[in-house]
Amino acid sequence: MRPGDPLRPAARNSGSLLVDHIGELVTNEGRPGDPLGIRRDAALLISDGEVAWVGPARDAPAADRRIDVGGAAVLPGFVDSHAHLVFAGDRAGEFAARMAGEPYTGGGIRTTVGSTRAAGDDDLRSTVRRLRDEMLRQGTTTVEIKSGYGLTVADEARSLRIAAEFSEDTTFLGAHVVPAEYADRPDDYVGLVCGPMLAAAAPYARWIDVFCERGAFDVDHARTVLACGQAAGLGVRVHANQLGPGPGVQLGVELGAASVDHCTHLTDADIDALASRRIDCMCAEGEHTVTVATLLPGAEFSTRSPYPDARRLLDAGVTVALATDCNPGSSYTSSMPFCIALAVREMRMTPAEAVWAATAGGAAALRRTDVGRLTPGARADLIVLDAPTHLHLAYRPGVPLIRQVLHNGVPR
Ligand code: NIG
Ligand code: FE
Repeated sequence: MRPGDPLRPAARNSGSLLVDHIGELVTNEGRPGDPLGIRRDAALLISDGEVAWVGPARDAPAADRRIDVGGAAVLPGFVDSHAHLVFAGDRAGEFAARMAGEPYTGGGIRTTVGSTRAAGDDDLRSTVRRLRDEMLRQGTTTVEIKSGYGLTVADEARSLRIAAEFSEDTTFLGAHVVPAEYADRPDDYVGLVCGPMLAAAAPYARWIDVFCERGAFDVDHARTVLACGQAAGLGVRVHANQLGPGPGVQLGVELGAASVDHCTHLTDADIDALASRRIDCMCAEGEHTVTVATLLPGAEFSTRSPYPDARRLLDAGVTVALATDCNPGSSYTSSMPFCIALAVREMRMTPAEAVWAATAGGAAALRRTDVGRLTPGARADLIVLDAPTHLHLAYRPGVPLIRQVLHNGVPR
């Protein structure tokens, strides 16, 4: 385990813990016609930080300790598979300008790069901790964290070193934008990203990502960056098709990316490409698309852009995840319940599809089978809702419904 303060706590409670009198338990065990695998009047036994048993409350085994949730809904902790938490400063003024009619272009990324380079390690670390704690309070027990606001060898490496103190899923996003000092030499910048920057970042990263978009990196540069990351042993994810139609989604599918993220502007060919490649996921659902479409409705909310049409993806059989995209520019929310509510109201997802996408979908986007479900052997990451059913997450938007969070079986 990495040093520092990871989301995975070093200490686990010893002995067993029974979560009893669960009115509605979302397991994500993936029965046909019921992907949420809902069990009613259930109980769940935790041992050694993992789910040890799930079944009817009347059959619950004895345990060392017990939490009676009094008929509440219990679901897996949210898996937020896309977040940019290592930065300094904020861009509230840019948000205000957008709400007054300015478009979002991604140009503000360089503003945050300036503040991030000027910040000390402890400032960056305390921002990550603050946002991670906000997320935990809102039910997120797994979060992916990207670099991308350093854009020098030293600043990308330290961003990832700090990110790795908080998450096992860290992503090298040196190809976020071309920094000002390389504005006229994008080829040279891509050379830096693939050479010394990747070498310094890779020890702290599990994934590589690129912003493949007009104004950021074109498809040739994006392919070069992702291929050199793959050659260094990193998994691939892509910021794709956010600001307009483009080649990012199909590039991601071509390279076997775990996820293409945003997917705001999709052609039929993009959806066909995503749907065409499937894998046995060794998980409850049996199979997923190789490349998950990760939708980030907080970004459309905060940039006043049209929402992606999740229904088109789901109807084509594409595996969909929901994530916050938490960052100071395009989506400064840490709230998965907010994203679920947006997805249901604005993106034609059912509440069940949105909850699945925010839990099991996020796990699929990170190629993880230990989180995003509550079945024996999974990590005991769970949320007790102040509500009788998962439906309330979309039905009662903006209401703090997360009563209790257990991470690795430990109340947080
Ligand atoms: O996912 N699109 C690229 N990156 C971020 C935005 C970063 C920013 O505006 O600071 C995103 O939306
Ligand atoms: Fe992003």
